[in-house]
Parts: sequence; C-alpha cells; structure tokens
Amino acid sequence: MSTIETGYREFDLGKFHFRRDEFFAHISWPTGQHIMSVDDFLRALQRDVAWDFFYGTVNFDEVFGTINHYGTVDMFAGRFNEAYRKAELDHVENFDTPLIRQTFATMLDDWTNAGFDPFASPAETDKPFGVKEGSNTSAVTRRRVTASRMVGVPGDEKIRTDATHPINRMFADVPQDEPEVHPEPGFENEVAAFNLFAYLSRSDVTWNPSVVTVCKNSLYCPTTEEYILPIIHGNDRVEWFVQLSDEITWDVQDRDSGSARSRVTMKAGDVAAMPGDIRHQGYSPKRSMLLVWENGSPELPELIRTGKASVYPVDF
Ligand code: PHB
Ligand code: FE
Repeated sequence: MSTIETGYREFDLGKFHFRRDEFFAHISWPTGQHIMSVDDFLRALQRDVAWDFFYGTVNFDEVFGTINHYGTVDMFAGRFNEAYRKAELDHVENFDTPLIRQTFATMLDDWTNAGFDPFASPAETDKPFGVKEGSNTSAVTRRRVTASRMVGVPGDEKIRTDATHPINRMFADVPQDEPEVHPEPGFENEVAAFNLFAYLSRSDVTWNPSVVTVCKNSLYCPTTEEYILPIIHGNDRVEWFVQLSDEITWDVQDRDSGSARSRVTMKAGDVAAMPGDIRHQGYSPKRSMLLVWENGSPELPELIRTGKASVYPVDF
C-alpha cells in the first residue's frame, strides 16, 4: 500500500528505506529487505529513541538494529545474524548521532497513532494497527527520569504521588509509607530516603529503566516489566540484575551469533550478572520490579575490546 492510502510518511537514512502499512514496518537496504510487525517495531523504536541508543547494541529483532558508539551510531541489517553474515547480505552504515536521533524520533511520532502508547504494557494500550489516525506526541516524547543524585533529594527528581502517578493496577498491594528522615541541621540537602517499591508501583511504563540514584558511574536503574522486553539488548559491559518482585525469564544468547547461552529464571530476591558479551531478552508474565545496575563509565567498551577488562564481573 502506498503512503497515499495509509497516510504514513516514508523515511530514508543513508541507503536504508522505511515504510509502514496497516500492520507492518518494511525496511529495505541495497542487499535486502525486512518486515516486522509494526507493534514490535514501534515498541523497539520508542526505547532506542528514549534511551538515546542505550549501551551497546539494540536489536529490534534478529535482523535489524543499532550499535551505539557514543557520538555516532551504526544502523545495521543482518550484522548479528549468522545466516546473513555467511551469505554476505548484511549491511551497516554509520551516522552522526543527531541525524539518526532526529530521523528515528520523527518516524516514531509519525507512525504512532492516537490510541497507541509504545511504552505501555499491551494490556494497557490500544493497538498500533490501521491507517494513520492522529498522533500521541506526549507519550512518545515522555521525559525520561534521570536523577542527578537521587530521587527525593532537594532539587532532584520528585517522588511520585496520586496527583501525578496513580498506583498501577498490578501493584495495588504495595505499601505506600515513606521513611521518616530527621537530618541534623545543615544536612537537609544531603540526607534523604524514599520508598523505592512505592515509587515503582506508580510507574506507567514498562521496560524503561530510569536512573534513580547516581554515585559516580554507579547507576541504579529500576524499571517495571510486563510482557516482553521489546528489544534484544547486546551488552558492551557487564550489567547486574536484582529481581525486586515477581519473576522474569531471560533468554541469553551469544551477542554476535545469537546462539543460545542460557535461560535464566529470576525470582524475587535473585541477583544475576549479565556478561559483557551476550544479548538478552526478558519475559515477565506478571508486572514485576527489576533493578538494573549499570556501570556508566564511558571507558568500558574500549577496555573490554582490548582485553583490559573482563566480560565477567568476577572469576571463580
Ligand atoms: C537490558 O537490556 O538490560 C534491559 C533493558 C530494559 C529493561 C530491563 C533490562 O527494562
Ligand atoms: Fe541489557
């Protein structure tokens, strides 16, 4: 179907071409073409845009994705797919971050209809399908929570209240009491505490880590999960996971080939370190709370690439 029939814009970036119809995103490049459910495509695109290309690789699926070089971004087709590589059909182009950021943000806004929220659980949003019908700019341009010190500290990210963030339907039983804080005079700006479970129970998005504490490069990025992580993340550093509630199953694969490495089911209280040379995708059967602990050091990818840092956090 042409743009005239569906109302959606088409986009070009380098030699890649993007088109959407009522159900699908169509991606083509000089040596091939690809088709994805527009549901999956928009959920992945939303995260790539909101996270500014994240850490390392964001695979939209087994074929298409981006690699963050922190200043430039590779866009690829078949780069991490053994069959495409063997057939020499893979294609990679590098772009300055502002160009791909702008193209992706414009495409996300144009292709998202009024009732669809790509960050919401599929149980909490309308479907993305059909011809163009309005837009949902406020949802696709949501401000990402990134504390500079900690949520609740004076001048930093605010704790959440009924007025701004109602408790999610799945977290109705989460206690909402806040800790009492009695700083000594002069330390009001330095001593703070908040109820992280209450904070997360009020999240209206899924699979969207937000930075709630920062200590140098140590970033606590908790998130609430329901259904499937819409990207397959290829790590360029170790990531720690702490399962705060309920359960998530992770498929862990070799980052480059996609061959199976392990399947990890994490129950409340479980802690895991994801190695720096894997890709992973999570499945959360009930809305759950996950703490992702990131080392934000910009030096890590190079240290790992040159063998100066390990892809494991500890050797036993
Ligand atoms: C990850 O790739 O590590 C990741 C991304 C988003 C989440 C959770 C984990 O919500
Ligand atoms: Fe990850």
